[in-house]
Amino acid sequence: MLRLDRILANARVGSRSEVKKLVKAGRVTVNGEVAKTSDIRIDENTAHIEVDGQKVIYEKYVYYMLNKPAGYICATEGKVPIVLDLIAEDYKGMFPCGRLDKDTTGLLLITNDGPLAHELLSPKKHVEKEYIVGFDTPLTEEDIAKIEAGITFDGVSYKPAKYKKISEYSCSLTIREGRYHEIKFIFKSLGNKVTSLKRIRMKNLVLDPSLKEGEYRPLRAEELADLKAIDR
Ligand code: URA
Repeated sequence: MLRLDRILANARVGSRSEVKKLVKAGRVTVNGEVAKTSDIRIDENTAHIEVDGQKVIYEKYVYYMLNKPAGYICATEGKVPIVLDLIAEDYKGMFPCGRLDKDTTGLLLITNDGPLAHELLSPKKHVEKEYIVGFDTPLTEEDIAKIEAGITFDGVSYKPAKYKKISEYSCSLTIREGRYHEIKFIFKSLGNKVTSLKRIRMKNLVLDPSLKEGEYRPLRAEELADLKAIDR
């Protein structure tokens, strides 16, 4: 049993406040009766819901692509600003898929699909994560060779990363793990310092360049299908 507004929001009829307005306007029917309020609890699996005469298909899982700004923590609760504060939709049960540091920006999947998140984050699946890295000292050929060979720092081994030069002070780095501060530690081990870090891709999900920092949008059907097409 779920609240009507939650079902409608999950089915992407609109945001929680938009669907409340639709219900108020008498445009939503549940089993043939006009719904009077959006806080009624109904069986999402059996109820026949229509908005303006169009059948609503309930979706258990929701998926949003967020362009994470700096200053937000990847957590589901806490005092400091958390990434879920940026999501206007009812985010009960939603969580960020993976952790970006507070000062890291860019692609973050927000979902309530635990099994998919598990697949994407499992170290065994080696899902690629691509970052644009800014750093304060130009890299030498030797540094690049180390990055590409894998690095051990402070007793932790980091697997080989894919390096692509962008400029003297920035590169694209693709990693397949997701260790705590991985990229910062790789650069620290070289006596270098990361000055900016932005994730632009996770597997084949690419950050939508039209999303400004702090903005998000639902995943498109084909983006979701690609993400799910993971080795199981
Ligand atoms: N590596 C880091 O050091 N920080 C991140 O947020 C992501 C990867």
